[in-house]
Amino acid sequence: MVAPLDGQRYWESGLFSGLTLSGRRVLVGVSGGIAAYKSAELVRRLRQAGAEVRVVMTTGAQAFITPLTMQALSGHPVHSELLDSRVEAAMGHIELARWADAILVAPASANLMARLAHGLADDLLTTLCLASEAPLFLAPAMNRVMWMHPATQANSELLRQRSVRLLGPAAGEQACGEVGAGRMLEPDELVAELLRYWQQGPLSGVSLLVTAGPTREPIDPVRYISNRSSGKMGYAVAEAALRAGATVTLVSGPTALPRPPGVALVAVESAAEMAVAVQARISQCDIFIAVAAVADYRPSVVVPQKMKKSAPELSLALERTEDILAMAAGGTDAPFCVGFAAETEDLEGYARDKLARKGLDMIAANLVGQGVGFESDVNCLTLFWADGQYEIKRATKAVVARELIEIIAERYHAKNSG
Ligand code: PMT
Repeated sequence: MVAPLDGQRYWESGLFSGLTLSGRRVLVGVSGGIAAYKSAELVRRLRQAGAEVRVVMTTGAQAFITPLTMQALSGHPVHSELLDSRVEAAMGHIELARWADAILVAPASANLMARLAHGLADDLLTTLCLASEAPLFLAPAMNRVMWMHPATQANSELLRQRSVRLLGPAAGEQACGEVGAGRMLEPDELVAELLRYWQQGPLSGVSLLVTAGPTREPIDPVRYISNRSSGKMGYAVAEAALRAGATVTLVSGPTALPRPPGVALVAVESAAEMAVAVQARISQCDIFIAVAAVADYRPSVVVPQKMKKSAPELSLALERTEDILAMAAGGTDAPFCVGFAAETEDLEGYARDKLARKGLDMIAANLVGQGVGFESDVNCLTLFWADGQYEIKRATKAVVARELIEIIAERYHAKNSG
């Protein structure tokens, strides 16, 4: 069976229905790589979404796809020469750099990324990227070893630090026959990223980190301690935040759920791994929402070989895990922190205790174990903050998450404006 394309899921998800790129001017840069064949579809999709498109190709790109194809699809002559007096007379490179509302380079080869990272302007595309003030999006596409090479990783980091937005790469089967990270995102995914960038929502421009799912605390190589969290609530929160315009990173314990389209997913197993993943990202986020059901205890010792059932009884010594949420909320320059509280009694008492003890801006409390909360498709929440509370009635987790995100956006903006 062929798995559905990620790109198709974007449109099936309905996240971007009703949004267009109408009035947006997108300069598509194409560098040399086998994924250049997808650029033709990208240009078609961008125009379908309402964007005006101009195409710039490197010499390498023209070995994979002809300028004529791109001209036919974009409706405009393709630019490729830096020092061409005829082209400069029509629309010079500085005009082109000013014309663009965004530059999207897809595919972005390892070579192109290296040249951009080091400020080279040795062809038309790199010159335009240097001469333009428009946001720059890169869709890396290369062999997995090239992507993981320290040079490429260092160049990616340098570009990120300069606010270049890296879209992907995705993992999967590659044109060279290998499997791993390095595939260019599908054209629909790239269009969706631009739609999201320009989308106006209560959280547009906000960077949001969510944890979701259970953690697994190993006992030996084949056994672990875990809980009933399915990840549904956390994934719904991530999608709702994306829909509200946020840039979303989801740190998820093991679940059976697909990555929500448009969300950056960091997969972890244990509480310790989740703590490291959150710690590495917390200073770059504006809002942190801890939906994960993190194990409070883990085995003090992980037995290196499978334990044998020789003893009639077995006791496991447990030790506390790190409290990820308390750590995030207690740091200097902490983001707006929202915790979740799963309780089976005295919802308000326990939730308010966690709110105060962990130093949170808000806590979303759910009574679990009555067909809501863990595993179920529905939930209801009571939100508590220092001097207020709000009730979200029983509904699907998607609906509950949307209402939750509205309230979080309201309180986040109130805190930052007051
Ligand atoms: O995943 P689903 O099946 O959709 O279920 C959703 C849910 C019931 C798991 C979710 O709605 C929920 O309540 N999540 C929080 C569960 C939980 O661990 O609650 P807690 O009261 O034990 O923890 C309080 C808060 O501290 C939580 O935000 C938790 O993420 C955080 N925590 C807890 C322990 C720890 N070591 N580190 C933490 O960060």
